[in-house]
Amino acid sequence: MILTEGEVVRWGRRIGREVGTPVFLGIRGQLGAGKSVLARAVARGAGVEGAIPSPTFNLLFRYPARDGLEVVHLDLYRLRDPDELFELGWEELGHGPEIVLVEWPERAGDHLPEDRWDIHLSGLEPGSQRRMVKVHRVGTPPHLPGFPVTLEQNS
Ligand SMILES: Nc1ncnc2c1ncn2[C@@H]1O[C@H](COP(=O)(O)OP(=O)(O)OP(=O)(O)O)[C@@H](O)[C@H]1O
Ligand SMILES: [Mg+2]
Repeated sequence: MILTEGEVVRWGRRIGREVGTPVFLGIRGQLGAGKSVLARAVARGAGVEGAIPSPTFNLLFRYPARDGLEVVHLDLYRLRDPDELFELGWEELGHGPEIVLVEWPERAGDHLPEDRWDIHLSGLEPGSQRRMVKVHRVGTPPHLPGFPVTLEQNS
């Protein structure tokens, strides 16, 4: 589907408010596609207050959120090797009450969890304020609020 920035933000906030946990959202797309816009909206919806800077160099930021859960925001763009994931505590992610938001999930190679949502954002044409948003369910993640139109994928 095609969404304006306002619609991406509204959808993200709804995900943050309503999604069950643990849940892992891989957010794909080129530089400037809107991955951080979506991730921040999810975090806000989940009740994260204050600044939500891009985890460009730290790779991972963790925030307290609603109902005692936590939002974990990762940006793997600068990951040099999937082995670095283990230094970040990757294996412990997504088992407890967490919303895990991962920009550039493809950098994690084979290490993505079996149950997840893959969300792909892409620009329609240069300068456009609208994005094509595609959602793939992988495995059996919790229901993704506000997006009944999903394609299934088994890999
Ligand atoms: N429909 C839209 N959805 C999301 N962002 C949009 C949309 N239309 C325009 N934008 C703009 O596109 C930019 C997206 O920036 P953002 O930091 O979210 O990109 P990103 O995908 O996280 O890039 P990076 O790979 O550098 O982390 C913002 O400036 C935002 O205002
Ligand atoms: Mg980003």
